[in-house]
Amino acid sequence: MDRHKAKGARKGIGYAFMKSIGYYNGETGPLEEMRVPMNDRACYFGDGIYEATTVRSFLPFALEEHLDRMESSARLLRLPLPMEREKIREELLRMCASVEQGDSQLYWQISRATAMRSHAFPKGEYSSNLWITVRPFRMRKVDESYALCSVPDTRYLHCNIKTINLVPNVLAAQTAAEKGCEEAVFHRDGVVTEGSHTNMHILKDGVLRTAPLSNWILPGITRAHLLTLAREMGIPVREEAFTLQEMQEADEVFFTSSSAFCCRACALDGRPIGGRDEKTLKRLQEAYMQKFLKETSGKNPYLGESR
Ligand code: PDD
Repeated sequence: MDRHKAKGARKGIGYAFMKSIGYYNGETGPLEEMRVPMNDRACYFGDGIYEATTVRSFLPFALEEHLDRMESSARLLRLPLPMEREKIREELLRMCASVEQGDSQLYWQISRATAMRSHAFPKGEYSSNLWITVRPFRMRKVDESYALCSVPDTRYLHCNIKTINLVPNVLAAQTAAEKGCEEAVFHRDGVVTEGSHTNMHILKDGVLRTAPLSNWILPGITRAHLLTLAREMGIPVREEAFTLQEMQEADEVFFTSSSAFCCRACALDGRPIGGRDEKTLKRLQEAYMQKFLKETSGKNPYLGESR
């Protein structure tokens, strides 16, 4: 672990740990000081993929599911992994164990290569780049509710791939922020696809409804967990898209992601929504939290004896 004892790290008793750590192809350091080569294709084209998850007590939640999706996104982009999956897992766990505090956000991305700018893939063999960041993270309160605003979904038809090409999502999130909303709801001609960085769901007459998997939405890992939990709890699930109008009329509206978990919405475009089946929503939120707590209760194998 010595190589993580980087310059600028805060000194603890006997050992130094950073608040936020950055990793680029094996180099590590305080995140704010890390530099990457200009020719990394992430900078020119957003030619890469990413994953993000919440870390509790130095253990990333649902790591295997995130590694599965990473492999699937890489396949869809014809992007070679920089190293074996097992080695990536090891590097991720090492990074989670190398920061000052155990509750953090783990983010990683893989970009295609470092090469002179040219749209097609670099000729011949090339190696992809692994970026990792771990930074402090405080979970949102689950009992709060949030305002949403709708925006036309102007994205392309590869939304099932978790690429680092996120400009429409950034613009939508900014629109939401400027309107004092927590999240933007993407729609295509009134049909809801997902949020700018979350999946959207409604409860109506006791049924959980969410858009089906397609190239219009990201196959959210929280979404998948939620559907499994709902089915286990006897809550009927319908994977069928809903409209903005149906969102207005739903008993509850909520959104999910690896960092937001399962958040209730209370307004859409300035009009109140939901609030009519809090009991079912609470059951789902609690079941999800229990799963999260249970699965992050082990010990990161790269944590030193003293922690
Ligand atoms: N966002 N849809 C989009 C467009 C997303 O960017 C995300 C995740 C989700 C939810 O996926 P998951 O449950 O696997 O986190 C849905 C992450 C958190 C981000 O961009 O930081």
